[in-house]
Amino acid sequence: TSRTPLIAGNWKMNLDHLQAVATVQKLHWTLKDAGHENGSVEVAVFPPFTDIRSVQTLIDADKIPFGLGAQDLSAHDSGAYTGEISGAFLSKLGVGSVIIGHSERREYHQESDELVNAKVKAALKHGLVPVICVGETAEDLERFGSSAVPVGQLEKALEGVQASADIVVAYEPVWAIGSGQAATPAQAQEVCAALRAVIARVLDDEAAARTRILYGGSVKSGNIASFMREPDVDGALVGGASLVVDEFAAIVRFQK
Ligand code: G3H
Repeated sequence: TSRTPLIAGNWKMNLDHLQAVATVQKLHWTLKDAGHENGSVEVAVFPPFTDIRSVQTLIDADKIPFGLGAQDLSAHDSGAYTGEISGAFLSKLGVGSVIIGHSERREYHQESDELVNAKVKAALKHGLVPVICVGETAEDLERFGSSAVPVGQLEKALEGVQASADIVVAYEPVWAIGSGQAATPAQAQEVCAALRAVIARVLDDEAAARTRILYGGSVKSGNIASFMREPDVDGALVGGASLVVDEFAAIVRFQK
């Protein structure tokens, strides 16, 4: 099976809509100048909600070959949910995917596995690809090892999801996020393989073979290649380094 590598930039709560447009424009030209071949590696950016309209307009006008995603969505379609954003609104804006269950939302917004599952279903219902984030804390790692918690989170996230669903999974050990201390490629491979086995078990073998599993947590231009050499790592979910155009472009242009 050949899964197209995916390098996704999660901007988190950084870059306003003016900075967002400048950043996407610059990333596009940087990759073009470097001779980056469109299609060899898929690139996607996940800006804050308020940037999405401006970024989408730019991507459309300049035919920029980047995917556009959101960082969260509501589990509901519409109604009296002040401050929430519906998946229906996102797909109408041309958004293709949405991060769900990022550890920062699990931790700071008390998102449970049940809510993550409801959001995955909401995303699929509105034609969005859920980028399902799972990962263990430092404490989990000590108590249960690296795979048990992410495996349990993914099993719950996929409950009631159809085998034909187009999804992406991101393995992000919480202790590696923004810490400068990435997992080793071997650790990432071990957990990503365990996650692929979950997809095979809960969905089916075809889904497991097709679905991209990303590693996230202190990915940089200097370590991306080592992760991409692992058979079950199909790309990266990049936080801090996605805000620095030259660094993110270098990650996209990794050489195995
Ligand atoms: O979603 C991205 C991750 O939280 C990784 O963040 O690359 O800053 O460690 P980081």
